[in-house]
Amino acid sequence: MGELIPVLSKKDIDRKVSETAGRISSDYEGCEVIFAGVLKGAFIFMADLIRHLTIPAKIDFISVSSYGTSSSSSGAVKLTKEIGLDVRNKNILVVEDIVDTGLTLNYIIKHLKSLKPATVKTCALLDKTGRRKVKVDLNYVCHTVRDGFLVGYGLDYAEEYRNLDGIYRLK
Ligand code: IMP
Ligand code: MG
Repeated sequence: MGELIPVLSKKDIDRKVSETAGRISSDYEGCEVIFAGVLKGAFIFMADLIRHLTIPAKIDFISVSSYGTSSSSSGAVKLTKEIGLDVRNKNILVVEDIVDTGLTLNYIIKHLKSLKPATVKTCALLDKTGRRKVKVDLNYVCHTVRDGFLVGYGLDYAEEYRNLDGIYRLK
C-alpha cells in the first residue's frame, strides 16, 4: 500500500460539491436534465451531487474502459456500457470523477452527441490539468490539481481506495 497524502477532506468535498450543485441548479432552472455518471469512479460524487440539487433530475450511467488497472493511460477508449435512457433532444450533463489527458471525456462527449441530445455539458469532480492531450470543455469543476495520482471518494488505484471519504494523493 502506498502512502496517502491528504488533498481534500470530507468537509472540503461537501462544500465544493454543494457549491457546484447550486450552480447547476440555477443554470438549468426550468430545464429537464439527464445526469450521466461515468462508472465506476463517479458513483459517490454523482450520489452526493444529485442530493444537493434543487431541480428535478433523471439519472443514468455510462461506462468506458480506458485505464485498465494501472495509473498510466493506454490512450484507447472503448464503450462498455451504453446509456439506458432515451437522450434524444434532452439535456445531458456528464458527471466524471477526474479528467486527466481528456481522452475519456472527449470520447464520451462525441459518443453522446451521436445520440442527438439537445445539449451535452460536463461536470468533473477533479480537473487534473498537467497532462491534458485533447481540449475538453469542462462546464463545472469542483477542484483543480496540476498532477499526481488521486484516490478516494470513488477514485481508485487498481480498484482500491474508492471507499475513503476524503481525497488523497497516492505516493
Ligand atoms: P483521461 O482519459 O486521461 O482523462 O483519464 C480519465 C480517467 O482515468 C478517469 O475517468 C479516471 O478513471 C482515470 N484517472 C485519471 N487520473 C486519475 C487519478 O489521479 N486517480 C484515479 N483515476 C484517474
Ligand atoms: Mg473514470
